[in-house]
Amino acid sequence: MEHLPKPGNRKADHHGKSTKLYDPEFESPLLRGIEESRPWNLSAEIAKRLQPTDRLLDVGCGTAVKILPLAGKVQEIVGLEPSAPMRGRAQEHIGQQSLENVSIVEGTAEHLPFDDESFDVVTSMLAPDDINEIYRVLKPGGYAVIEKLGERDKADLKVFFGSDEQGPRGQLCDLEEGKRLALYKEEYERPFSEVLVQEGTWQTYYSHEGLVLLLNNTSDVRNFNIDQDLPALEDAETALSTPNGIAIRQHRILVIARK
Ligand SMILES: C[S@@+](CC[C@H](N)C(=O)[O-])C[C@H]1O[C@@H](n2cnc3c(N)ncnc32)[C@H](O)[C@@H]1O
Repeated sequence: MEHLPKPGNRKADHHGKSTKLYDPEFESPLLRGIEESRPWNLSAEIAKRLQPTDRLLDVGCGTAVKILPLAGKVQEIVGLEPSAPMRGRAQEHIGQQSLENVSIVEGTAEHLPFDDESFDVVTSMLAPDDINEIYRVLKPGGYAVIEKLGERDKADLKVFFGSDEQGPRGQLCDLEEGKRLALYKEEYERPFSEVLVQEGTWQTYYSHEGLVLLLNNTSDVRNFNIDQDLPALEDAETALSTPNGIAIRQHRILVIARK
């Protein structure tokens, strides 16, 4: 079962291929599937905590698509991203929208290249988060808004791909249910004054092509290889098939903490 680090000592956790190169396939709507409504609207949760004079930092911003809609609500947004191709794509998105208050900076969650108490809000969405660093760069009263994968995320699909020498190939499938939420709650409650932790699940419907894109471009199944894994994928598709598509349950954890 999962070995949990001592609360407060967890270094930024990774979602597998951490600095994956940007691939245009990553932005295909097929890879996202068709979603039932989510238990929360992440953009609205962040927006609720923003003031027009605020500086917002998004750690592991990827292609920056999630932060750009917030640009009109704050003074400045900084996206931090270690992968150069991801940063390049983020800059393209910023240029397309002629946004002057959004910048992209190279760096990692473990060593935020910013002064203490320099941001009003820090976000991390499906990216590594280092709680000590987030706390350090937040101003007193500032908010951290963190969205993480839950351990049951796409478990109904992952189970078809078995195990290798490292254990279950499905990302997070070796974790005991509920442990991740408990870990984040305990960790964030330590330094932060107000902490809200919730989890939610929702169904997403994929096509065969969308699932192949998903598995090729994410860490959901370790070393996914369409040639070797096609029989397992076909079994999964048969078992999970519905009139709306191949039904797969997503599981996320949302942490909102005030310094
Ligand atoms: C799953 S993507 C999420 C991107 C974006 N936050 C979103 O939700 O669309 C994870 C991102 O974290 C970045 N990343 C990987 N390792 C990181 C680290 N140590 N510190 C900060 N970001 C990291 C990856 O390069 C990738 O862009």
